[in-house]
Amino acid sequence: MNKIAVLTSGGDAPGMNAAIRAVVRTARFYGMQVYGIERGWDGLIKGQITELQNRSVSDMVQRGGTFLKTARCPEFVTLEGQQKAAQTLEAYGIEGVVVIGGDGTFRGAKDLSDNFGVKCMGIPGTIDNDLAYTDYTLGFDTAVNTVLSAINNLRDTMSSHDRASLLEVMGRKCGDIALYASLAGGAEYCITPEVPFSIEEMAKSLMQSQKRGKTSNMIVLAEGAGNKEEICSKIKELTGISVKTTVLGHIQRGGSPTMADRILAAKLAVKAVDLVLENKTNRVVGIKYNKIIDLDIS
Ligand code: F6P
Repeated sequence: MNKIAVLTSGGDAPGMNAAIRAVVRTARFYGMQVYGIERGWDGLIKGQITELQNRSVSDMVQRGGTFLKTARCPEFVTLEGQQKAAQTLEAYGIEGVVVIGGDGTFRGAKDLSDNFGVKCMGIPGTIDNDLAYTDYTLGFDTAVNTVLSAINNLRDTMSSHDRASLLEVMGRKCGDIALYASLAGGAEYCITPEVPFSIEEMAKSLMQSQKRGKTSNMIVLAEGAGNKEEICSKIKELTGISVKTTVLGHIQRGGSPTMADRILAAKLAVKAVDLVLENKTNRVVGIKYNKIIDLDIS
């Protein structure tokens, strides 16, 4: 392949810029032309494409978000939308697309390839870490570190006032952000969608630990695991303890990527371009047991 394109789609994640940068510089090292598509599938449908040079990705490795921008694109779910996207690529003579995003992005890539023969290569980029084939997705490590910093701050004030705190974190249906941040931050309770939990049991445990002299507690709640107001009012009803809630929200999505995310971005991007060079298509790259892997997008 001589001409490839790169896009980011779905929710942004720290490390996406580092991955774009590595795709561009690796592909150009091998003599390919690289195009950047703005706003994901939407930009592909609308033809928002520019050629990227090595300098286009200068000063990017440390930036959160994605300089190519991103969007969720309902039109791309339709055959008509996919056809327009395929036509744009044809008009530019682009032979393959590296897509950086989560499961929705990969589904889009698979559709484009199944229905219109476009060659796609996927790099996992989402803070949620909800792609089961890979141990880590880009942005997860940074997001967990952001949550950890919030836990540290909350602990200072909660322990000063002998209070309990509930911190709601992102992750959609996946509890990984909550789980890793809870383990690393020493949270007393972690509620995730994957593991059934009982408020009654938690209330009992809170009462017992109070009796043992514990006056401050940190509860981390994954957003997909339950309703924070209901949980807090039930705890109040059962124990008399009033829990202060914090919703971290989109703060988790921004910020300069950690070392782990930057290095992962470089490794995944190099693998994606290597696969393109080997003429392999419709693969996704990932990391399993600390080894960079690839497998069929299906
Ligand atoms: O998929 C990433 C994510 O941040 C989820 O954790 C969260 O549920 C969702 O996106 C929020 O989406 P939006 O930014 O569109 O509100």
